[in-house]
Amino acid sequence: MSDMAVTRELFDQVMVPNYAPSKSIPVRGLGARVWDQQDKEFIDFAGGIAVNCLGHCHPALVNALKEQGEKLWHLSNVWTNEPALRLGKKLVDATFAERVYFCNSGAEANEAALKLARRYAIEHFNAEKTQIIAFKQGFHGRTFFTVTVGGQAAYSDGFGPKPADVDHVPYNDLEALKAMISDRTCAVVMEPLQGEGGIISPEPGFVKAVRELCDQHNALLVFDEVQTGVGRTGALYAYMETGVTPDILTSAKALGGGFPIGAMLTRADIAASLKPGTHGSTYGGNPLACAVAEAAFDTVNTPDVLAGVKEREGWYREELEKINAKYGCFSEVRGKGLLLGCVLNEQFAGRAKDFLQASSEEGLMVLVAGANVVRFAPSLVITREEVLEGLARFERAVARVVNG
Ligand SMILES: Cc1ncc(COP(=O)(O)O)c(C=O)c1O
Repeated sequence: MSDMAVTRELFDQVMVPNYAPSKSIPVRGLGARVWDQQDKEFIDFAGGIAVNCLGHCHPALVNALKEQGEKLWHLSNVWTNEPALRLGKKLVDATFAERVYFCNSGAEANEAALKLARRYAIEHFNAEKTQIIAFKQGFHGRTFFTVTVGGQAAYSDGFGPKPADVDHVPYNDLEALKAMISDRTCAVVMEPLQGEGGIISPEPGFVKAVRELCDQHNALLVFDEVQTGVGRTGALYAYMETGVTPDILTSAKALGGGFPIGAMLTRADIAASLKPGTHGSTYGGNPLACAVAEAAFDTVNTPDVLAGVKEREGWYREELEKINAKYGCFSEVRGKGLLLGCVLNEQFAGRAKDFLQASSEEGLMVLVAGANVVRFAPSLVITREEVLEGLARFERAVARVVNG
């Protein structure tokens, strides 16, 4: 096994072709740096996809993993465990929530939220209250229910009959939501800042108005904070800076700092609808994942780290403005905290992937969010030196694309 030649070609031979990964194969990381098999160094502005909130191999996470790894890995939910209860208590203490459900991914957290919203409405109102309203361009995961609730039909088409009673309206279009919502609506599902859809912030007043409409129609407001949560926007959760409290919130990605875990947070009166046997997950809340997530949570949820996210946003914006002044390729830099999108102007429309490719060649990992937005979601504790070095590489990548 150990002398097997592991090459990118092997991917095409043995893996299902639903991904098309880059040519180089990363083998180790430290902080915001990653090295591939040829020892080429990358600065990581992607953080997985907004996952590695403390960079690579953060000592607090490595220690938690090692410590728990020598104690207890997995039990099943026939027993509970200390790390899950500690993490649950910390999430409850730090947020609106009174109850937590653990799972393994963002899609699973949203699946739980959607099932709970349906069950709650059927139990408390009537069997017809099943409509779920979500937003166009929204993204909620790849299970069939969550991808159907996501706002890009292209991702859910072609798999046969979809889960029913799911409708979409444009993000930031209050009139469309007013026209769609009724007493038959059980939930409105939204990202408090759309990530995959292109780094789109809610307009002032939009989130509050959505909350009011939900209240008028006894619909639950579900915030998908899989991408925005755990410090990404500079608050522990983005809802905390909207002036609005959701009824259900989902978290994953950064929650485990790179170890798979998801969580659904809600109030006790709503949680009560998921009685024993109604929902579950073999691995959900396993001690190993929860121990790492607890260490990530303790490290991120401090005034220093959260204020640091806002400070780092400033570093990015300042340098990106300089790059744009030279090369004139972005119409705006948008987003919040360390979830930032460089929106390509008309001249470069549809070419985000070219910027990603050129960045990779220059030794920088970036993301895209649709065809027109280059997205950054780096470590929340990335150093100034790493930011400046990464942006110097980005400038060289931009020059390559602009100069053809
Ligand atoms: C807002 C949002 N929700 C849900 C998901 C799905 O999470 P996962 O891939 O962990 O299932 C994502 C992933 O990109 C996301 O950005």
